[in-house]
Amino acid sequence: MPESLISLPDGFAHLMVDWQRQHGRQSLPWQNTQDPYRVWLSEIMLQQTQVTTVLDYFHRFLRRFPDVASLASAPQDDVLALWSGLGYYSRARNLHKCAQEVMARFGGSFPRSAEDLQTLPGIGRSTAAAIAAFCFQERVAILDGNVKRVLTRVLGYGEDLAAAKNEKALWTLAQDLLPAQAADMPRYTQSLMDLGATVCLPRKAQCETCPVSALCQARARGEPLAYPVKTRKLKRSSATLWLLWAVNAQGQVWLQKRPDKGIWAGLFSLPVFESESDLLAAWPQGGEPRYIASWKHVLTHRDLYLHPVQMQGCEQMPPVCEGQWVGSDTWPVLGLPAPIRALLVS
Ligand code: ADE
Repeated sequence: MPESLISLPDGFAHLMVDWQRQHGRQSLPWQNTQDPYRVWLSEIMLQQTQVTTVLDYFHRFLRRFPDVASLASAPQDDVLALWSGLGYYSRARNLHKCAQEVMARFGGSFPRSAEDLQTLPGIGRSTAAAIAAFCFQERVAILDGNVKRVLTRVLGYGEDLAAAKNEKALWTLAQDLLPAQAADMPRYTQSLMDLGATVCLPRKAQCETCPVSALCQARARGEPLAYPVKTRKLKRSSATLWLLWAVNAQGQVWLQKRPDKGIWAGLFSLPVFESESDLLAAWPQGGEPRYIASWKHVLTHRDLYLHPVQMQGCEQMPPVCEGQWVGSDTWPVLGLPAPIRALLVS
């Protein structure tokens, strides 16, 4: 159904705001604040990570970097190290760049409009809107994955969101649904996130506890799970990586900093090779190779087949690839990809 034929349900924003007050999440550490630094940090962490995981990281990050100035002036390695384990490290690199731009372009204060916020690294349209709505009560719509599900169901919007024009139409509808009063924007925005995260779930629409079930087109049609419609599947690829696990007599491991682009960019890792022979050639003086059981590590767009090979040798004749000997006392403070960390401490 084209956007023009979708009718907006009366009273939607009102019902959502009332529900959030009674049933929504009230005491997450990034709620009840209008500090854009905290809200921004939480929104970036929450983009691909569950609330329960984010909580610890959020507190640790704030202890180490209490404000945007301290984050901007930190070395990138420190930021990546604190992010270690959260995954999707481009978020951490953009976070750092964003803090530096807030200092350089905006005098250390986050801009107050979604339009300006979107010009910063790592802040897309929905994240910009969330910050502007939570902190500055701007009447601007969010539309992340959870919210797309809630709105396509309520509106019965069955167009294919893989097409840009349909996604654009949904943004317009999301904007049309906003509460009239700017003061309601923080709670309304939170209500959409909360409903998407706790009630209107991908494989289970709990319509009995939904505050807007009476208005919901998907429910009226008896098929809440049929929305959203998105046809294009992500193309997955796979790669085989050989990991040189070089250990010296002191038990130190040869680690290299990954380049700024590509897999695990900017993190510290065991040296990575495309083939077993390339790996073996990288440490001619290494001892007998010990082949560790390989495993599949699943990333968003890619499956990695990891093949670690452990070799013992002496520090005077290290591998010929770039890197340095690093002792186990230092691993915890380095930004290591989660599978490498798991391997080293196993
Ligand atoms: N996911 C994204 N933003 C969130 C927020 N502010 N609260 C809870 N979950 C979220």
